[in-house]
This record gives sequence, C-alpha cells and structure tokens, in this order.
Amino acid sequence: MFDIEAERPEHGPAIEALLDLSFGPGRYAKTAQRLREGNRPVPELCYVAFSDEGGERNMVGSLSFWPVVIGGVPGLMLGPLAVEPRLRGKGCGIKLMERGLADAKKLGYRLVILVGDAPYYARVGFGPVPPGRLTMPGPVDPSRLLFRELDIGAIAQAKGAIVKPPSSAEVKASGI
Ligand SMILES: CC(C)(COP(=O)(O)OP(=O)(O)OC[C@H]1O[C@@H](n2cnc3c(N)ncnc32)[C@H](O)[C@@H]1OP(=O)(O)O)[C@@H](O)C(=O)NCCC(=O)NCCS
Repeated sequence: MFDIEAERPEHGPAIEALLDLSFGPGRYAKTAQRLREGNRPVPELCYVAFSDEGGERNMVGSLSFWPVVIGGVPGLMLGPLAVEPRLRGKGCGIKLMERGLADAKKLGYRLVILVGDAPYYARVGFGPVPPGRLTMPGPVDPSRLLFRELDIGAIAQAKGAIVKPPSSAEVKASGI
C-alpha cells in the first residue's frame, strides 16, 4: 500500500506542508528542535512514503533522522515522522521507521533516540531511557524520551547530555 523512497529536493514543499499540518504552530518550539537547528538530517536517512489513490500517486508520509551525540555515543534522533491524516492507522509510520532503522544499522549507527509516545514507538523496539542517564537541551517529559539500540549494549555506554555533533568548523578548530 505504501512505497518508501529516498527524499529528493522536489519533495521539500510537500514535506513542509505535511509537517505544518501534523504538528501545527508549536512545531519549532519543541525541545527536539534545538538538536535540529544548525544541524542537517543524514541525507541517506530521509524518506518519503507514496500511496496510490484512485490512480493518483501522492506523497503521504515523511521521516528523517538527525545526527546527535547521545551521552558521548554518536547516534541519531528519529523524527519528525508524519503521515497524511486520511491515511493514518494503515501502517505507513511503522513502515517508514522500519526502513529507516534498518538502513541506519547498515550505515553503522549504534543508538537512536526520540521524543514521542512510548506505546507507539514500542512497536519498533523503542523503550524509555533509564532515569537520570541522558538529558535533552530543554524540558522533556522523561517518559517520552525513548531509545532503541541498533548495537546491543550501546545504551550502557551513553551517559550525559544529548547534543548536536560538533560542526566541521569546530572539529577543524579543535585540531581533530
Ligand atoms: C504518529 C503517526 C506518524 C503514526 O503514523 P501511522 O501511519 O498512522 O501509524 P501506523 O499506521 O504505522 O500505526 C498505527 C497504529 O499505531 C497506533 N498509534 C498511532 N499513534 C499512536 C500514539 N500516539 N500512541 C499509541 N499508539 C498509536 C494506532 O492506534 C495504530 O494501532 P493499530 O495498528 O492497533 O490499529 C501519525 O499519526 C501522525 O503523523 N501523527 C501526527 C504527527 C505526530 O504526532 N508524529 C509523531 C511525533 S511523536
């Protein structure tokens, strides 16, 4: 029912419209957004979902993953994830995430975090971050801060702040 494809530049306006519709004006006020500002999603991990409806092919879902450092462990933040309201509840969100998580693992990522509803994301293996282990750069309901290991044991190595990766300019300045 849904085809998952790599996001291309021409999908941009439809993705923005879907995210505005799905998250409303509070979209940029969320704490997760602080990890996106000045950051870029991983190009190989940006997806759109298409659906054939009455002979018409429409873009109906989108998902991206962002590079973050999770308590010292390089990893990813999942989201935003959004599905066109009229097609929700038909498996599109899960299909997007399963594809993205499988590709992230192939690319060597070990750990993924997100802020979202635990009962939904448990369907693709996310669980609550152990209390006190990780902090976000702003207020977050701790029961909504979730993780999924792509490499077993990665969460045990993660402790402290979840931050953006150092920019290439910062890396150069530090001489790494
Ligand atoms: C959340 C969202 C991406 C789910 O996409 P979807 O394609 O409808 O989800 P799926 O079809 O893959 O999964 C649907 C199942 O998950 C359940 N589900 C959906 N959202 C849920 C939630 N927030 N909490 C618990 N269960 C949820 C549905 O009840 C359904 O259950 P069923 O299979 O037993 O009927 C979609 O509802 C959406 O775009 N919402 C607005 C944006 C948003 O909130 N994004 C997530 C940010 S945390």
